[in-house]
Amino acid sequence: MKLQQLTKSIFFVLFSLLLINCANEEKTVPTASATNDKVESKVNEILAKMTLEEKIGQTNLRGTSSRVKGQLPEELKTAVRNGEIGAFLNVMNLEYVEELQRIAVEESPNGIPLIFARDVIHGFKTIFPIPLGLAASFDAETAKKSSEIAAYESSSAGIRWTFAPMLDIARDSRWGRIAESPGEDPYLASILGKAYVEGFQGNDLSNPTSIAACAKHFIGYGAAIGGRDYNTVNMSEPLLRNIYLPPFQAAVNAGAATVMTSFNEVNGIPVTGNEFLLKDVLRGELGFNGFVVSDWDSTIEMTAHGFARDEKHAAELSATAGLDMEMTSKSYENNLKDLIAEGKVSEAQLDDFVRNILRIKLQLNLFENPYIPKDHTGNLYAEAHLAEAKKAAIKSTVLLKNKNVLPLTNTTKVAVIGPLANKPHEQLGTWSFDGEREHTVTPIDAFKKANINYQFVEGLTHSRDKTTKGFSKAISTAKNSDVILFFGGEEAILSGEAHSRSNIDLPGAQIQLLKQLAKTGKPIVLVIMAGRPITITNIIDDVDAVVMAWHPGTMGGEAIHEIIYGISQPEGRLPVSWPKNAGQLPYFYNHKNTGRPAIPDEYVHMDSIAIGAWQSSLGNDSHYLDIGYTPHFPFGYGLSYTDFKYDNITISKETINFNEELTITASVTNTGKKDGKELVQLYVQDLVGSITRPIRELKGFEHVSLKSGETKEVSFKISSEDLKFVNSKMINAAEEGKFNVWIGPNAASGLQSSFYLKK
Ligand code: NOJ
Repeated sequence: MKLQQLTKSIFFVLFSLLLINCANEEKTVPTASATNDKVESKVNEILAKMTLEEKIGQTNLRGTSSRVKGQLPEELKTAVRNGEIGAFLNVMNLEYVEELQRIAVEESPNGIPLIFARDVIHGFKTIFPIPLGLAASFDAETAKKSSEIAAYESSSAGIRWTFAPMLDIARDSRWGRIAESPGEDPYLASILGKAYVEGFQGNDLSNPTSIAACAKHFIGYGAAIGGRDYNTVNMSEPLLRNIYLPPFQAAVNAGAATVMTSFNEVNGIPVTGNEFLLKDVLRGELGFNGFVVSDWDSTIEMTAHGFARDEKHAAELSATAGLDMEMTSKSYENNLKDLIAEGKVSEAQLDDFVRNILRIKLQLNLFENPYIPKDHTGNLYAEAHLAEAKKAAIKSTVLLKNKNVLPLTNTTKVAVIGPLANKPHEQLGTWSFDGEREHTVTPIDAFKKANINYQFVEGLTHSRDKTTKGFSKAISTAKNSDVILFFGGEEAILSGEAHSRSNIDLPGAQIQLLKQLAKTGKPIVLVIMAGRPITITNIIDDVDAVVMAWHPGTMGGEAIHEIIYGISQPEGRLPVSWPKNAGQLPYFYNHKNTGRPAIPDEYVHMDSIAIGAWQSSLGNDSHYLDIGYTPHFPFGYGLSYTDFKYDNITISKETINFNEELTITASVTNTGKKDGKELVQLYVQDLVGSITRPIRELKGFEHVSLKSGETKEVSFKISSEDLKFVNSKMINAAEEGKFNVWIGPNAASGLQSSFYLKK
């Protein structure tokens, strides 16, 4: 054994033991676990009857386009009849679903049922806010409810497998897929990941209204260079383990039935063909025992990566790495038989793939109950579903600025302007294939229903509209009103897969129009609907309030109406740092200090540099001359309609050993006139480590409701468990030393204390 391998194996064993320990503590309902003997013997019984061709068939996830109308193609029926297909993606016609399943169950050699999959990402028909918006709720219950309803509705269309949750940590708002992500923080993402899996899979995967979850994209996809989708990822193993893996560990612990590989390479090896990541890390360390599916064509894309010579080589690499099922491309279908005959892939390896897949099919109870129950309508758009979607949109909305303009009163005369005030399709956001515009409530719909005193002039027809012909009408309407409510942002198509942007300002002529509107002297409320943070440094001083609504989904209009008029409070907090401009990206709050940390006293703005200045190094620290070193709004930030004050931080022990815990407490007072809800956040900094540590890390949060004038004490417990990190030797352990700790309203402020962890 080579030294490198040996070292890896030793650490692998140590790390696994540590993880197994954590996993045992955290494990919830193991809906997808392989512990059930009955399931195992059934799996083996079926496997024993299968031919090599049928086994390969199970690894085949066939894609179809949901847009294709007309007859069910004969060749698909024949392939299913021959046992050549194990699962389908995007069959969105009930008759086809039933017919294909009937053929599989009644006519294929071993009657193995199919699984029908779909990207049900933030709702099926009832669309919830985009996942980045849901993350702003900082609320596991909201995330869980959204996926529970998505499962209930979509299972009525025969879907028993969704490609969600997406758990890629995203530190770069240029990346289009940040919209689908849980944001930049591994602690928050882990809480959400667990909640989504529990919501999709329910207490029992065999329930016909539960669907199998798919934690994706494993792994590092959000670290694509420059925020360009599909791009190369280079990262150290400690970074991978400390930041990118935890949400996947949480999803696996929660029983996620499947995992999808990511398109990207990590350190030169595409994940779909990466044996270390799929076998050692995912199965060995994280303890995953469901099945692994490739992303769309990501097997054969290994040729474009320059890792596989051709399709056959791609199949060999994927099979060796432990990929169980291939999405859309056919490298397994075309080559596995030969690869096995040539001894390049073992039949035992293929048997493992089939076992992993059959196990999930059995857990979904598809053998007993392959069809959609007749009485399962999904209650599409049920009152209760819409109410939850509205609640989620309210909890996701982040108030970024408010110069005494919000909430509005019913007597205010409002000029509603902007390209997104009445665009049902756009407010549904990316990955909302099945939500229908006729069921979507826009802000204008909600204002009409609530009899608001408003006049509506778009000014711009869509977010990228560069024409100014609508400006004069918008301006005259604004002049004739008390307040301007501007609905701007990005259309849905500007974020999501393959929709990265290098400039993340408001597109089109929106800034131009806002500047013109500002000249009227009327207060402006800017409501942003977008799939990412939108840089607003060039407009923030021209507007009086900024509300980030993300793409809020089906009930977005009602949620926004309630917030604007103070019927509900904005409760959301930023799950990502909000950049000043795109040149600052990637930006994340949990960065390292560097040898020359940026500090206010040393910051020199480029406008203060004397003309012809001598070549000095200007403050010598890590900042930009034009925008400094802080984000526009920090992670965790969000205002409310009242104010909160933090006092009296106390710590129960100044020193703890590795078996002890301490309690840290602060009091929070609602000093404003309105009742409200604060998100109290706990951050920790490990001052010195065997590898350098982030300047802060989120370790806890609590939603606290406070009546006007009320004070509550909020406490968090900390033990060495919370202080663990993976060091350069891949050991996951806390280290002795001093820690700073903050309780506060966001990642850039709070009351500070400190403690020691001693052996
Ligand atoms: C490609 C995307 O990367 C993935 O997230 C999605 O689930 C599949 N296509 C299937 O649509």
